[in-house]
Amino acid sequence: MNPLITLIGCGKMGSAMLRGWLADDDLQADFAIVEPFHDHLGWTAAYDNVSRYDSIEACAAVGRAARIVVLAVKPQMMDKAIAGLGSLAGPDTGYLSIAAGIPTAWFHDRLGDQAVVLRSMPNTPAAIGKGVTALYARSDAPDSMVALARQLLSAIGGVVMIDDEALMDAVTAVSGSGPAYVFLLAEMMTSAGIEAGLPDALARQLAEATVAGAGALIEDSDEPPSQLRINVTSKGGTTAAALAVLMDDDGLGPLMRRAILAARDRSVELGS
Ligand SMILES: NC(=O)c1ccc[n+]([C@@H]2O[C@H](COP(=O)([O-])OP(=O)(O)OC[C@H]3O[C@@H](n4cnc5c(N)ncnc54)[C@H](OP(=O)(O)O)[C@@H]3O)[C@@H](O)[C@H]2O)c1
Repeated sequence: MNPLITLIGCGKMGSAMLRGWLADDDLQADFAIVEPFHDHLGWTAAYDNVSRYDSIEACAAVGRAARIVVLAVKPQMMDKAIAGLGSLAGPDTGYLSIAAGIPTAWFHDRLGDQAVVLRSMPNTPAAIGKGVTALYARSDAPDSMVALARQLLSAIGGVVMIDDEALMDAVTAVSGSGPAYVFLLAEMMTSAGIEAGLPDALARQLAEATVAGAGALIEDSDEPPSQLRINVTSKGGTTAAALAVLMDDDGLGPLMRRAILAARDRSVELGS
């Protein structure tokens, strides 16, 4: 019989993962989706191996233990969402949380210290399979569970293992919140372009395509971003004039440092 993967919460992230899982030929599994409002999940009816339930109780009534329970509700809903989770578990069940800011100790307090709980931090480009997720597993987590969690998270992009959970706050500050910094960059380039004389729509088109194209180039290139920057900077040219401002003592470097440390500190605060 196929292993059962139970997904608690099938909103933006849950749906992105489910689509990836169903498209993964190497993942032979059945899926149980626990989601109180599933009007947006009509498309899953085409899959015989997907069952939908309104509640954990309804899912548990089927009497089949999950191999892994993926927790994808908002952090503030987690307490309510995991009540009764034990009824979905068998002796080998593991838990994978994608909730921001909730430490594994919080889950162990509720599920017992022996529970295998993996914690991850994805980011928004997951919606198009271009996310990056940091995955933390305690050293006693079985390899097979870590491998399954990696496979499931690969459905929404790259996966990076971290062996120290304390790093999750800095991970959140860089990659979890990071897409918003890049969106802001596109916004700021647009408004500065308008100020430099471009019509609004043209400024936006150029700024957005530049951010997207530069990101794709970083992904495609073997060279680090610092070298890509040097490659397009001629001495005394226009790029050099802009970079002199951006790389000044009060330029983008210290600003980004302050922003990322503020996000990290807020993550620490939220987690305690
Ligand atoms: N979106 C991101 O970029 C991002 C990035 C990193 C991490 N995350 C993490 O991913 C998790 C999910 O985020 P999301 O953006 O996918 O949120 P979302 O779109 O709000 O999805 C959460 C889903 O869970 C459902 N739900 C609420 N209570 C439930 C319960 N008791 N049992 C089962 N399902 C329940 C919600 O239904 P209702 O809408 O009806 O309440 C909703 O459909 C969060 O913990 C978040 O921290 C998200």
